[in-house]
Amino acid sequence: MTAPLPHVPSGATAAYLPALRADVVRGLTAVPKSLPPKWLYDGRGSDLFEQITRLPEYYATRTEQALLTQISADIAAHTGARSLIEMGSGSSHKTRSLLDGLARTVTTYVPVDVSGDALGPAAAAIATAYPKVEVRPREADFTDPLHLDGLDGPRLVMLLGGTIGNLLPDDRDRFLRSLASQLTPYDRLLVGVHLVTDPQVITAAYNDAAGVTAAFNAGILHRINRELDADFDPEAFAHVACWDADNEWIEMRLRARRAQTVYLGDPGVVVRFAAGEDLLTEVSAKFRPERLAAEADAAGLELQMFWTDPDNLVALALIAPALRTAPAS
Ligand code: SAH
Ligand code: AVI
Repeated sequence: MTAPLPHVPSGATAAYLPALRADVVRGLTAVPKSLPPKWLYDGRGSDLFEQITRLPEYYATRTEQALLTQISADIAAHTGARSLIEMGSGSSHKTRSLLDGLARTVTTYVPVDVSGDALGPAAAAIATAYPKVEVRPREADFTDPLHLDGLDGPRLVMLLGGTIGNLLPDDRDRFLRSLASQLTPYDRLLVGVHLVTDPQVITAAYNDAAGVTAAFNAGILHRINRELDADFDPEAFAHVACWDADNEWIEMRLRARRAQTVYLGDPGVVVRFAAGEDLLTEVSAKFRPERLAAEADAAGLELQMFWTDPDNLVALALIAPALRTAPAS
């Protein structure tokens, strides 16, 4: 008779596990409790995000897609990019508009994403649809250095979909400075942001009637259970997404419906929640054009082009390293 196999959580051999464990212990033992939003994106999280992009309430994806289609020739004219590096590429659906627009120059596409489950199929689909383009997927955190050397210039680094708004202001500042230090004067950055608009419209996008965003949010607890042998009861937490008018961002939280104790089996840590206590899982900042320009400027970058849709819901900014004139001697 064979002995039963020991329980091995799926993903137990994944290289990211020590980072997940460290973030979860840090975030759940902090006051207030929070988790980095990148951990929302395992295979199921990436699938749920794709479902979110098709919800009637979630205006951002379809609006940005239409805008990208409209301006892709302009982007090609401004950049002449040979390498396209996309951070947080997800399904790479919207990338196709850029690859079409840049068809005469682009030779290499580098999708970068923490979600290996999203990255693999997306890269394969792009490689099939664009056989002349070399596709080099990287499963990585895009806030780590990008290692752009070895990629032909001019290079266009993209961060679409409003994902930059999921970074907290200090992290965003560090991220933009790090990018600025890696770009040559010929490289460009294309950033898609969600604009500040009617708070009711924004709030509805994170509280959809079908409950997909709630499932996406709770998914992080299922993931921690599976990968860190924890015993969260996801039903014991409510999805909360509310507009913070001072910071002009959405906060997505999981609110404990009752007092409870959770055991994180792998690190061996006990976490207590009071009734009504919140766990912050994501912020989603909305921008005014002047704020994006100021943040770029502070990081040594400058806005070159700024396109918006007719309803001013989203914007795409083409950003260049700022040309600094040397002080006169
Ligand atoms: N760009 C796509 C997907 C946006 S969803 C679009 O516009 O629709 C955000 C994507 O970024 C997800 O695929 C997620 O896995 C990835 N992501 C989030 N944080 C990340 C990080 N720190 N490093 C790398 N990828 C990240
Ligand atoms: C990827 N990111 C820009 C999305 C957003 O709108 O902040 C993630 C998301 N969270 C809940 N719904 C969508």
